[in-house]
Amino acid sequence: MAKRIISVLSGKGGVGKTTIAVNLSALAAAHSEIVLVDGDLGNPTVGLQLGLWGYMNGLQNVLNGKCKLEQAIIMHPATGIRVVPSSLEYQRGVKTSRFKEVLEGAPHENVVIDSPPGVSSSVEDILAACTETIVVVTPDIPSVMSAVKIIELAEQSKVKVAGLVLNRVQNKKYEMHSKEIESTCNARILTTILEDKAVPESISARMPAVLYAPRSAVSRNFNDLAVELGFGGRGILGGAAVGRNPMSRFFAWLSRRFGGG
Ligand SMILES: Nc1ncnc2c1ncn2[C@@H]1O[C@H](COP(=O)(O)OP(=O)(O)OP(=O)(O)O)[C@@H](O)[C@H]1O
Ligand SMILES: [Mg+2]
Repeated sequence: MAKRIISVLSGKGGVGKTTIAVNLSALAAAHSEIVLVDGDLGNPTVGLQLGLWGYMNGLQNVLNGKCKLEQAIIMHPATGIRVVPSSLEYQRGVKTSRFKEVLEGAPHENVVIDSPPGVSSSVEDILAACTETIVVVTPDIPSVMSAVKIIELAEQSKVKVAGLVLNRVQNKKYEMHSKEIESTCNARILTTILEDKAVPESISARMPAVLYAPRSAVSRNFNDLAVELGFGGRGILGGAAVGRNPMSRFFAWLSRRFGGG
């Protein structure tokens, strides 16, 4: 059984959930077994960020009982993340109520679930399946106010809110201050992540920022988040993840050189 099942949630869309789920998983995979599940069935982008496509089984097939979770896992060679991507084709009536059953039985140490934004039945089913959640916000009123609703929903579902991740910070005057965000959400900011062009560049290169630009400011922020969540740090930054294993090192070089996973 999985020890930790962590969902990455947000009230508002486009705040950086997928980016954070991918980079956190890449760092955590240096120390422990990580399964990264693309729980955003309507708009799946985990596979796109990691350069994985052409897979046979997506999460939809797992939830619909057409295959086992193990059969849907793809190993991301450069990081060692075990990825369960979602099919890019939209399917109606996927049995998201099976999230709990499928993930609870997973024989893996840790599961990270990337989620769709806002409140929906899919998000409720993800909350029913996870042991804890992190809520991503950007420093603006709409994002923070919609996070309040998600935190309430998590609390109603008796899921531990590990904290907030404050993303895309530019330290502009008009941005909401950390203290205001924490008091509005009644939750602690685990880590602040800066706005950094290394993120869109890395997505374009189809690899996590921590691999694409390991010494960038944003990669250090992702590392801080991994430490905050108890995954140890200095995964890729310190060379532990890609440094330990010669094959991983080779794939990381291939990814940097030619893109893709
Ligand atoms: N720290 C950052 N610095 C710069 N750009 C960022 C940062 N974080 C995210 N982005 C950009 O924001 C966009 C949205 O990111 P992402 O897809 O991770 O958000 P999301 O919350 O998963 O979106 P959705 O709600 O649609 O699933 C991407 O284009 C990404 O490049
Ligand atoms: Mg997303």
